[in-house]
Order: sequence, then structure tokens, then C-alpha cells
Amino acid sequence: MEKKNKNYLTGKEIRAIAKENAQIMRRLEAFKNRICDESEFVTTMHDDANILEIEDLHTYFFTEQGTVKAVNGVSYNVPKNSVVGIVGESGCGKSVTSMSVMRLIQGPTGQIVDGSIRFKAYDYQRDEDGEPVADENGEYRMEEKVYDIAQMPIHEIHRIRGKQIAMIFQEPMTSLNPVFTIGEQLDEVTLIHVPDATKEMAKEKSCEMLRLVGIIPENVYDRFPHELSGGMRQRVMIAMALAAEPRLIIADEPTTALDVTIQAQILDLLQDIKKKIDGSILLITHDLGVIAEMADYVVVMYAGKVIEKGTVFEIFQDPRHPYTIGLQKSKPTMTLDDSAELYNIPGNVPNPVNMPTHCYFKERCAKCTAKCSGEYPGMVQVSPTHFVACHLYDEENANG
Ligand SMILES: Nc1ncnc2c1ncn2[C@@H]1O[C@H](COP(=O)(O)OP(=O)(O)O)[C@@H](O)[C@H]1O
Ligand code: SF4
Ligand SMILES: [Mg+2]
Repeated sequence: MEKKNKNYLTGKEIRAIAKENAQIMRRLEAFKNRICDESEFVTTMHDDANILEIEDLHTYFFTEQGTVKAVNGVSYNVPKNSVVGIVGESGCGKSVTSMSVMRLIQGPTGQIVDGSIRFKAYDYQRDEDGEPVADENGEYRMEEKVYDIAQMPIHEIHRIRGKQIAMIFQEPMTSLNPVFTIGEQLDEVTLIHVPDATKEMAKEKSCEMLRLVGIIPENVYDRFPHELSGGMRQRVMIAMALAAEPRLIIADEPTTALDVTIQAQILDLLQDIKKKIDGSILLITHDLGVIAEMADYVVVMYAGKVIEKGTVFEIFQDPRHPYTIGLQKSKPTMTLDDSAELYNIPGNVPNPVNMPTHCYFKERCAKCTAKCSGEYPGMVQVSPTHFVACHLYDEENANG
């Protein structure tokens, strides 16, 4: 029988989808909790100059309303000693991508369903049982190892989370524990991540990290989080992230919850830290000004996909995707004319449960042609470092 309205699912169809989703979630949960040899998740980098390579990552949420393809085939690299900025409007999948890297996606609803997250770690050499190997002096042997984080069982994540990759969140109050002092929480990082660390060693390290982020340790060590201002708390979070000497710091909107003058101070601090640590920063923000100031490379996301990526110079001086061009116009600038309105890209992002098969930006795009109603555009390379997913540049690819 012909359905009355093709936009609505019948009860039977809803139940069938729910059953299928439950099966998928069960399978992925079992995979996450499996016991396996590290050879199952040790891999090699495609380019040795990178510390992180995300390739064709898909992270979905299986909700009762349908499957939200929050991250839908995302690929980008973070080269060693660089700052990579991720931009895109709210809800485009920036946080879900970074939470996938940290394996903090909440199951069973949220799952990494496909793709690779290759990370170059510096970890203990391990025996067949997965135990760290010590040399004749009792020192643990270290080695460089590439892990595919997407393939790691969840109980192995402690090898990298917090230690090799640290995260600074938007709202430090929710990431600090209100019942412990700043000192106790900072010491804990060293006590967990440095084998045989003593309390004295941990305290010394905590104070060193506090000084590094511009805090006099005596002023905060014995205080509780609620006794500090927002800016101070964010500094403490950065100190905590640094305490484990990570190779990669993920900063997700690190200044959004702070007022403007404090924002500038925290950004200066991050820039300072970039010079001091031998690592990379993945900086997520919807603020293009922050990206222009901090990043070496920029990745522009839209509705769960990367639509353009390149060096900071390429993205700001030679943006190609109509969305990136629109974003630049929507950036507030200093102008003598107070009445100048902020340019707004008209329209909305499509519903993440029901994405079209053509370019997701089509409904908002002023440059759209007949071709844009066809297949979703592939990535076109416009320079050795510059890529764009838009049919306007298909010719460039064809020409080499
Ligand atoms: N736990 C969840 N359940 C269902 N959908 C989610 C969940 N977390 C995030 N999403 C969806 O995933 C998409 C991407 O979210 P997010 O990565 O947080 O965006 P942003 O780019 O603002 O950081 C959004 O559409 C959001 O609604
Ligand atoms: S593919 Fe077409 S609709 Fe999409 S951004 Fe390019 S020109 Fe616009
Ligand atoms: Mg976010």
C-alpha cells in the first residue's frame, strides 16, 4: 500500500531501524571492550612529519530520532610542532572529532563507526602480556609507536589519554573536581603518569607548571576551584594539561567562556607554551581571529565534513569554498562606520539525521550551478597544501 506521507516513518519501520541500530551498537561495544594484542592497533604513519593523522573518520550517534552522522568522513593531519586550527559554525562536528581522538564519545549511543586516527606516541616497550619492559637498572624502556586510536580497546586508552594527548575544555569548572584542591588535582597528574613519582616530586612539578602558566603557586596550590576566577581556572587547566608533557594538546574553545581581556591573555599564554613545549596544538574555535593569530594550518568543517583545508595563509588570503569566503565576510572588523552590519551567511545547516546526497552547502550557496545538485563534491587539490570540496574547482583537478 502506498504510504500517505513519505517524510514520515511507519511504526514498523521505526522498530526495524531501532533493532538494526541496537545490533550495530552491540557489535561496536564488543569491539571496544575486546581483549587483544597490541599488534591489532599498532600501525605506521602515512607521513612521518605528522603527529596525528585522521583519515575518513565517521562518528555517529544512534538516537531514537535517527542516526546523527556528527562526523561523516573527516580527514586531516596535525604535523609535528604545529598549531592546527579547526573552524566551523556550532554543531558542525568539531568537538565530536576531538572527543573521538580522546575516545571520550559516550557509548552505546555514540560510536566511532569507521576510519583511522593514527597517533605517534612515545610509550613503554611492552612484553607479550602488555607489561612495560625494564632494563637492568630498572628503568623502563621507551620507544616511538604509532597507535590507531580508533582501533584501540577502551581499557588501553590510558596509554595516551591525558599523558600523550591532553585536552583543555571550554568550561574549566566542569573539568576540575570541586572537592579537591588545585594542588591535589595537579599532583595527581604526575602521580598517575610518572612511574615511581613521590608526593614531593609531584608537588615540585605542579608548582613548576603553575609558574609556567603565570601563577604564583603559593596563591593557588591549597585553594579549591570555586575560589578562583574563570581566567585563573583556565590557566590551572592548561597547567594540568602540560604536567604530563603531552605531545599533542587539544584545546576546544579554550577562551569562549572568558571575557575579552582574559581571552587575549590565555591566547598569549598558549602561544608562549607552543614555543616551550616540543609538541603540537589542535585548536578548536568558531573565532577566525583566534585562528589567524595562532594557527599554522586551518581545517574548515561544515555539517560533519571537511570542506576546505590549507595553510593559514591560503585559507585567509586565498579562500576557495563559498562557505569559507562567507565566513571571512562574517568576521567583525574595525570600521569607522558603526552602522556596518555583520555579514550573515543566509540559511541553515541541513538536518544531521537526514543529510542530502548533494553538496550540504547548496541551499545557502550563491555560486551553485546545475552540477551542485548531483554528487557530493570530492576533495580537489589546488596547491600542495590546499584542498577544497566544491564543484567550482573540479576542472583544476582534471588539469592536474
Ligand atoms: N550525545 C549526542 N547525541 C546526539 N547527537 C549529538 C551528541 N553529541 C553531539 N551530537 C551532535 O553532533 C553534531 C556535532 O556536534 P559538535 O561536535 O559538538 O559540534 P561543534 O562543532 O559545535 O563542536 C551536532 O549536530 C550535535 O547535535
Ligand atoms: S559545490 Fe556547488 S553548492 Fe557546493 S559550495 Fe561549491 S558551488 Fe556551492
Ligand atoms: Mg564544540
